[in-house]
Amino acid sequence: MIKLDANENPYRPPEALCCRLGEFSRQLDYNRYPDKTYSDLRLALSEYCDWPAELILAGNGSDELILLLLLAYGGPASRMITVQPTFTMYSHYARATGTPAVEMLYRRGENGGLDYPEQEIMAAARENCSGIIFLCSPNNPTGELRSRDWLVKLLERTELPVVVDEAYYEFSGETVMDLLGKYDNLIILRTLSKAFGLAGLRVGYLLSPPAVYQKLEELRSPYNISRYSAGAASILLEAREYYQSCWEKIKCGREFLYRELSRLQGLTVYPSRGNYLLFQTEDKPEIEVYQSLLEREVKIRCWDDLAFFGQALRVSAGRREENELFLSELTEVLKEG
Ligand SMILES: Cc1ncc(COP(=O)(O)O)c(C=O)c1O
Repeated sequence: MIKLDANENPYRPPEALCCRLGEFSRQLDYNRYPDKTYSDLRLALSEYCDWPAELILAGNGSDELILLLLLAYGGPASRMITVQPTFTMYSHYARATGTPAVEMLYRRGENGGLDYPEQEIMAAARENCSGIIFLCSPNNPTGELRSRDWLVKLLERTELPVVVDEAYYEFSGETVMDLLGKYDNLIILRTLSKAFGLAGLRVGYLLSPPAVYQKLEELRSPYNISRYSAGAASILLEAREYYQSCWEKIKCGREFLYRELSRLQGLTVYPSRGNYLLFQTEDKPEIEVYQSLLEREVKIRCWDDLAFFGQALRVSAGRREENELFLSELTEVLKEG
C-alpha cells in the first residue's frame, strides 16, 4: 500500500540515528516515571525554536494541546471560532468540551481560487468576549497561509487567545514566531509528527506567553509524554541537517505533484505550502476516484462533504517513486471514465 493519506513524513530516520534510538531504548529506565518537566525535550525545542524553554509546553501530539486549550478557554459560555474546512480536531474537542463552535466558511474567489473569511472571523472575534480562535497556517487541507497583516489586526482588535497552528511550518518556511513577544494573546502550536517524522511517537508543542503557559500547565497531566517519546524527540531534533534535506525533497515532491496534477484534464488542484495538495475531479466523483485508487493500493484522503467543496481529495507528498506511482494510477483511473 502506498500511504499518502495522513500528511506524514515519508522518510524514516537514517540508520545511524536508528542505532542511537535503539541504544537509548536499551538503557531506558522503563520502570521509572518520566521527568514531569521533560526538561531535556524542552531545552531541545527551545534551541530549535529560539523561545524560552519555560514557555514551551509539550503534549502527547498537538492533538492533546488542542484539548488542553479548549479545556482552558472553552466551555458552554465560550465560543470556539474557526473556519471550515480546517483541521478537524478543533471542532472535535470543541464538542468534547461542550464549547459551541462558530465556523466561518471559505468562499470561491473571483479567479476560481479560495477566499478566506477574514472579515467574518474578525467580526466574530469582536462579538464574543469569551472563547478561543483557531487559525491554521498553512491550512489543512486547503494549503494556503494566513495573511500576516490581517493576523496582526486581529491580534490588536481582540483579547481572545488566537492559536496559530503551524503544524506544517517547516514545509512553508513561514512563521509568526516573531509576533509572540509582542502579543499576549498569540499562541503557536507545532508538532514533530510532520517535519520530524514522529507521528508514531506523539510529540506536539506549544509556544506561548507566560499567562497561557501557566493556565495550561495546571491542566496538563504530569506524565503526558512517555520517557521514550521525550528522549527520542530530543535525539531527532539534533539531526537538523538530515531533516532539512528531507523537507527539501518533500517540497520538490509537492511542486512536482502540483505541476503534474495541473496538467491532467478535468482536475482542479489548489496550490499548497504544506506537504499535501487538495484537488477535485470533474468527470468522475471524487469518492469513486478514491475507491479505485484504494483498489490499486494507493491510499489518499477523501471527503464526501467538505464544507463548500462538497467532495474533495487530498494527497500527501511522498517519496519520488510513490508520487510517480500515484500519478500513473490516477491517470489510469481517470481514463476509465
Ligand atoms: C493542522 C494540524 N494540526 C495538528 C495536527 C496533529 O498533529 P499531532 O500528530 O501532533 O497530534 C495535524 C495532523 O494532521 C494537523 O494537520
